[in-house]
Amino acid sequence: MKKCINRMSLAFPAASENEAFARAAASSFITLADPYINELAELKTAVSEAVTNCVVHAYRGMSTGMIYMDIKLFSDRTVYIKIRDKGCGIADIGQAMQPLFTTAPEEERAGLGFAVMESFTDRLRVRSSCGSGTVLVMEKALQEKMLDDDQRDISDKSGRKLGACSPVR
Ligand SMILES: Nc1ncnc2c1ncn2[C@@H]1O[C@H](COP(=O)(O)OP(=O)(O)O)[C@@H](O)[C@H]1O
Ligand SMILES: [Mg+2]
Repeated sequence: MKKCINRMSLAFPAASENEAFARAAASSFITLADPYINELAELKTAVSEAVTNCVVHAYRGMSTGMIYMDIKLFSDRTVYIKIRDKGCGIADIGQAMQPLFTTAPEEERAGLGFAVMESFTDRLRVRSSCGSGTVLVMEKALQEKMLDDDQRDISDKSGRKLGACSPVR
């Protein structure tokens, strides 16, 4: 059975400078699971899109608001990311998730945030209610790590470990 082996929670104001902060914090935490570089890049981009949506859309017309980010690492190498706001909510989630749909075309928003989150994770779930906010959960299973050649456990015929730097006779 999969077990949560590490977790973190953050709360920060929905300010645009915190987009970079959230991305860096998520990256730093997920790095503890030793992901491949492309997996980490995908998760960082998905987090950026989710947090940007909270900054840009959730608290539109409101003076301020908070963003909550929880990340869990599981024993089966699944990464679980929850990003939540207490903003305006999404009236029609199905429509909002359609590629190219945006309620802010005048700001040159591409309407691709959800499409990016979907394609860079294994699972995306969105719950929202008008006036009380949005909860977004993304999950991604990291690949098993292959040992690099220089980290391989090299043993001779007797079972004695030679290690990467041992002379081979
Ligand atoms: N956290 C959120 N709170 C309120 N509305 C949101 C939120 N996230 C997304 N939306 C809505 O869903 C739409 C689509 O989001 P997205 O695919 O990221 O495209 P974009 O951000 O470019 O508009 C947004 O235009 C907005 O109306
Ligand atoms: Mg977006």
